[in-house]
Amino acid sequence: MRSKITVIGAGFVGSTLVQRLAERDYADVVMYDIIPNMPQGKALDLLQAGPVLGYDSLVTGTNDYADTANSDIVVITSGFPRKPGMSRDDLIKKNQEIVTQVTENVVKHSPDSILIMVTNPLDAMVQLAYHISGFPRNRVIGMAGVLDTARFRTFIAQELGASVRDVQAYVLGGHGDTMVPLARMCTVAGVPIAQLLPAERIEQIVQRTRDGGAEIVKLLGTGSAYFAPSASVLQMVDSILLDKKMIMPCAAYLQGEYGMRDLFVGVPVKLGAHGMEEVIEVELDEGERAQLQKSADAVKELIKVMGI
Ligand code: APR
Repeated sequence: MRSKITVIGAGFVGSTLVQRLAERDYADVVMYDIIPNMPQGKALDLLQAGPVLGYDSLVTGTNDYADTANSDIVVITSGFPRKPGMSRDDLIKKNQEIVTQVTENVVKHSPDSILIMVTNPLDAMVQLAYHISGFPRNRVIGMAGVLDTARFRTFIAQELGASVRDVQAYVLGGHGDTMVPLARMCTVAGVPIAQLLPAERIEQIVQRTRDGGAEIVKLLGTGSAYFAPSASVLQMVDSILLDKKMIMPCAAYLQGEYGMRDLFVGVPVKLGAHGMEEVIEVELDEGERAQLQKSADAVKELIKVMGI
């Protein structure tokens, strides 16, 4: 039987993700939204691209959670995106209500699913979904680090005229202004970037990475990024569905790793058929550890705002 993936929210991130998933041709995909008829229309359009592109994925749009039943993976993208000048944190109360209601329904209809959270503010929303779902930690994962790392890799590759494939990097911590791009561990074809770029240029690229989401929000005028976010979720789904055991930075519930407990923080994890199968502890220097702690403290503040 084919795997089943549900995407909640058929907006920019959700529908772009459904397109990418359908084109993978490894699962049937259900797209849920509260707007009547809209997900059905988008699903039909995507289904009709199948004969041209050669995929058989069954794409269904719905306003009824019953159609999402028994999904293997559920990706939550529903919520309001940022507007110019609005921080991810301003979104918190608005999206708390939506994510609470969505998670309750997902748990009811797909009790064995693996949840991937995309809605911002990511670190708060993934913590909320964990709290509401009662799922074990391996089945609740937040998408942030893959995207932040992709942004960092893009800028480094551009700077050096290198292939993005040759640039390896890790961005840890929260998906916000306190994210921690580990410049020390960034390499281009195995060569540390400290040997390729002056420290001040690296710092500028780190800052651009931190502001990466806001830069796009400002340019778009309305809405936020969706091509790179949906690609980032796709990589996570690939690793889970195909049990590839890829290691990538994701928001994971820490239970002692990195000296932290009971909190979602962006760290390298192994993704496989069971979801988040292992937290990988990389050795951090004192400065990096302090930055990660600062980032975790910022996430704690958000959680306080939600009152959970
Ligand atoms: N249940 C299901 N869908 C909902 C609900 C709900 N309770 N409330 C809102 N939605 C839907 C909206 O109808 C809309 O179609 O969520 C969708 C969100 O889509 P967009 O507004 O296009 O936002 P998008 O750019 O996709 O971003 C979604 O991902 O990256 C994050 O910050 C971003 O939190 C935002 C989320």
